[in-house]
Amino acid sequence: MTTTAEHHALKTTPEVGGLGHSRKRVEDARFLEGRGNYVDDIVLPGMLYMAIHRSPVAHARIVSIDTSAAEAVEGVIAVVTGALLANYNLAWMPTMSGDTQAVLATDKVRFQGQEIAAVIATDRYIAQDAADKIVVDYEELEPIVNPQRSLEADAPLIRDDKEGQTTNQCYTWESGDKAATDAAFARADKVVSLDTHYPRSHPSPLETCGIVADVNSATGQATLYMTSQAPHAHRTVFALVAGLPEQNIRIVSPDIGGGFGNKVPVYPGYVVATAASLVIGKPVKWIETRTENLISTGFGRDYYMHGELAVTNDGKILGLRVDMISDQGAFFSDAQPTKFRAGLFHIVTGSYDYPVAHVTTRGAYTNKAPGGVAYRCSFRVTEASYLIERLVQNAAYELGIDPAEFRMKNFIKKDQFPYLSPTGFVYDSGDYEAALKLAMEMVGYDEIQKEKEQARAEGRLVGIGVASFTEVVGAGHGDDYDILGLRMFDSAELRIHPTGKAILKLGVRSQGQGHETTFAQIVAEELGIPSSDIKVVEGDTDNTPYGLGTYASRSTPVAGAATAMISRTLREKAKKIAAHLLEASEDDLEWEVGKFYVKGDPASSVTIQDVAFAAYTNVPEGLEPGLEGVNYYDPPNMTYPFGSYIVVVDLDPGTGQWKVRKMVAVDDCGVRINPMVVEGQIHGGLTEGFAMSSMQYITFDDIGNCIGSNFGDYLIPTAWETPRFELGETVTPSPHHPIGAKGVGESATVGSPAAYVNAVIDALAHLGVRNIDMPVSADRVWSAMEEAKA
Ligand code: CDP
Repeated sequence: MTTTAEHHALKTTPEVGGLGHSRKRVEDARFLEGRGNYVDDIVLPGMLYMAIHRSPVAHARIVSIDTSAAEAVEGVIAVVTGALLANYNLAWMPTMSGDTQAVLATDKVRFQGQEIAAVIATDRYIAQDAADKIVVDYEELEPIVNPQRSLEADAPLIRDDKEGQTTNQCYTWESGDKAATDAAFARADKVVSLDTHYPRSHPSPLETCGIVADVNSATGQATLYMTSQAPHAHRTVFALVAGLPEQNIRIVSPDIGGGFGNKVPVYPGYVVATAASLVIGKPVKWIETRTENLISTGFGRDYYMHGELAVTNDGKILGLRVDMISDQGAFFSDAQPTKFRAGLFHIVTGSYDYPVAHVTTRGAYTNKAPGGVAYRCSFRVTEASYLIERLVQNAAYELGIDPAEFRMKNFIKKDQFPYLSPTGFVYDSGDYEAALKLAMEMVGYDEIQKEKEQARAEGRLVGIGVASFTEVVGAGHGDDYDILGLRMFDSAELRIHPTGKAILKLGVRSQGQGHETTFAQIVAEELGIPSSDIKVVEGDTDNTPYGLGTYASRSTPVAGAATAMISRTLREKAKKIAAHLLEASEDDLEWEVGKFYVKGDPASSVTIQDVAFAAYTNVPEGLEPGLEGVNYYDPPNMTYPFGSYIVVVDLDPGTGQWKVRKMVAVDDCGVRINPMVVEGQIHGGLTEGFAMSSMQYITFDDIGNCIGSNFGDYLIPTAWETPRFELGETVTPSPHHPIGAKGVGESATVGSPAAYVNAVIDALAHLGVRNIDMPVSADRVWSAMEEAKA
């Protein structure tokens, strides 16, 4: 096991700031000084404001919509309904998963909070007041708020708008080998099973969603300032949906206050504001309220999972069987690669080596907000990782083996990589044993195991929970991974100016991950140009190369690779210019960070800055002037970051309350570009994992009212509740990534929930408790204890 610094003996000085330097985030200065530029900061001359009238009921036929009172309000410019949009063929739109979604409801409402009409007015308050005056007459229908009811034969049909749709099932999908898995189960000494719900959660970015749509009726130019994690893909979707010529659509995604997957889908508000601006001829701004964001935009999770592990008495896993139902809400609007209806859930085999697995999944429409976005997760990997890590711990209990030992026994060993999983993933590299060993050392695993016994004798409950997750991030390769057919490559354009300063333009879009800092470090490493001399630009489709955007931790694996590749291409060209300047043959030149020199004569050298100037002033005969280029990188494989997290909890047997005493997180994301940024990413993810496992619950009552529509009910952890984290690292480079980096943005959200829950279960395992669904609240823990005692 090596640390970043050891593995990557720093090639650059802190002044140059290449890989491995904890360079301070350059973007923070403007954020901390209140000088960020978010969508709501954008004010255009003559701008109008939009507010949306939403359904208060979850399932109902619309009898009539009366907009007259809203239209009569002074300052109202227009009221838009689905009927009006239908004239432009815009009442429905395609989703990122190839389903359809109502822009403004015409026939039925299908979830509480659904968009029915929009008011455009001279001021935001007038727009909202007028929207409240819209009167809709409903004929109420049975609301369906869980997928089990939805899939019953007599359940009312939610999507009666879809031709040929006769049930509420929205997809089925399977992976693995059923016959071989059944045979492995027949041979097993024991079968360990777990039924668990990964509850609906919400990404809850600090900034809600919004748009300023500015369509110039004279030129046909549409400039859309949007909270978009994927501006280029959104541009193409807009061109296809609205029929606008793509060259006339410019999507600007300015500073974004968090995304976490919530800003991947195209929302009705974006479409209506754009259509309104087109028709009215003035810019239209729409900014969601917090409640609108919580009740109507992309949620995460909501998977009901049944898993079974076939094991031998001496602790070997023989196979895995999983059956899962996902609650998709009223429209199937996740963004999943076309081939994978349940995202990459089939990585559910985890960090363990066994030959067979079989996974079946079904999706159900319900009367809940659509979404199912991969909330800080690579296409449903979070749910998968949670299930396998919970199952493995339960299997260890049933076999009477220590859960860490059981993992060690079944891990894919480091010499087995590249490893082909039973569901078809090729894991690029890993050393799972090293990560778990380090985590165990850091947490004092053996001492805590001993303390547990002693504590019980004293009437205290202590639990220790492990999760040794494997993630899969960095979609594509494009043959397998796409969004609506668009191959999941990404891009980097690098321009080195005559004075040796540079500008790097990317197809991805940071939402707080620090790209302006870290991507410059890749160029600094490759070319020796100080990272402070490199400006990073993202989020403007007119000014950046095409890319699929930032989600699923794909920026470093894909755009990061593109950045390294274009830097290398420019270094090759720079070498030709250097040879010309040094009057030497290219073959006689050596590269040392930031300069070329003649072999054996280090004094004969030119710096990259000298070369940059020459690229515009003194190029050799036959060579194009300039030093710039673009790389489109279609990765050969995903990257597979991993880690071992261990949580120790103290649980009060009288109340069921639990507190994290210690949380150790060892992550391996390959080569770390910026260790401090990586640690920040991990801290954030561990906090979100803690929130999901302990306190967050977005649920619905029997008639489909959303409980969790505000931050009073849906809890966001503050520094007060958040545990202290201790981080460790191992470094196993990705063999196919040009700088050996793997993504890390989501690792901790993916890996940590199982560690927290496993710790609570461990405190109660002696009572026979094997499951408490998240959020593992004190009342649920207390009930589990009472049931176990009964
Ligand atoms: O796609 P997204 O930016 O959300 O995730 P990521 O590619 O995992 O990167 C998150 C942040 O961590 C970026 O600023 C990366 O450059 C940085 N990072 C790093 O410094 N080293 C790595 N091995 C991975 C990411």
